[in-house]
Amino acid sequence: MMLIPQQSSENQKLSFTFPHGITLSIKREDQLHPTISGNKFRKLKYNLIAARQQGCNTLLTFGGAYSNHIAAVAAAGSEHGFKTIGMIRGEEIADKIQDNPTLKLAQAQGMQLHFVSRTDYRRKANSDFIEHLKQQFGEFYLIPEGGTNALAVQGCEEILTEQDKQDFDYICCAVGTGGTIAGMINASSKQQKILGFPALKGDFLAEEIKQWTTRTNWDLCLDYHFGGYAKTTPELLEFIQDFQTKTNIEIEPIYTGKMLFGILDLIERGYFPANSRILAIHTGGLQGNKGFNNI
Ligand SMILES: Cc1ncc(COP(=O)(O)O)c(C=O)c1O
Repeated sequence: MMLIPQQSSENQKLSFTFPHGITLSIKREDQLHPTISGNKFRKLKYNLIAARQQGCNTLLTFGGAYSNHIAAVAAAGSEHGFKTIGMIRGEEIADKIQDNPTLKLAQAQGMQLHFVSRTDYRRKANSDFIEHLKQQFGEFYLIPEGGTNALAVQGCEEILTEQDKQDFDYICCAVGTGGTIAGMINASSKQQKILGFPALKGDFLAEEIKQWTTRTNWDLCLDYHFGGYAKTTPELLEFIQDFQTKTNIEIEPIYTGKMLFGILDLIERGYFPANSRILAIHTGGLQGNKGFNNI
């Protein structure tokens, strides 16, 4: 894998210089908040305000056993005085909470965990299923799996500062449900290009993103999913190790590792024109590393 060049630090971003005058800066959204890190903080902000305005003191959401979103909702609930309910995919996980750092921490922060079969989990957006959950748990504010809705996209519009809109030609981020990139697309200036690196296999994400934006200055780089969601290869893991050693920036294999591998690969392949100024968003997710190392 290619060498990571010397880093320099300015405007709280770390920058790396490459041949042909190309620069890569990393925006540390992962450092926004100790437990509600990166894009999760942005996605939850307006949802928590809306829940409070609606007089709702319980948040209910869905996620997998190692979900960054579940971890963030539990932390946000505990910090802001909401009861939280986590609907977790897979009944078989119910007796493995103690082996799972994400769920253990979520529970310690007061989240009530309920384990649902994979069949029921697929009904997570059906109104009759949600109604059934309301009968079971009482009134709640629903936050969808992955946290993406219109208010989450609004929150992600705040990731880019006015300075970022002038200082960079390309903005890169990892894509799961598409809410984070959609917010940044909406906020970007028209000469910028937003590049998304899906962590999942398949080409359905472009349609998801189009639900949240009418702008067209974006593209998805579909070749860096490494086999699909939460899948890795020895090459990816070696890259992550190498990157962390050389930069002192912790990343993880589900989202940010794949994005950074993709960006460096595209630089090497000559995708970016000379003098391109690239900004990569570090969207956090580092809590998942604890669980990942246990798998
Ligand atoms: C660390 C991290 N980065 C990026 C993403 C992708 O965000 P989105 O689902 O808004 O596309 C997620 C979660 O979904 C995440 O946990």
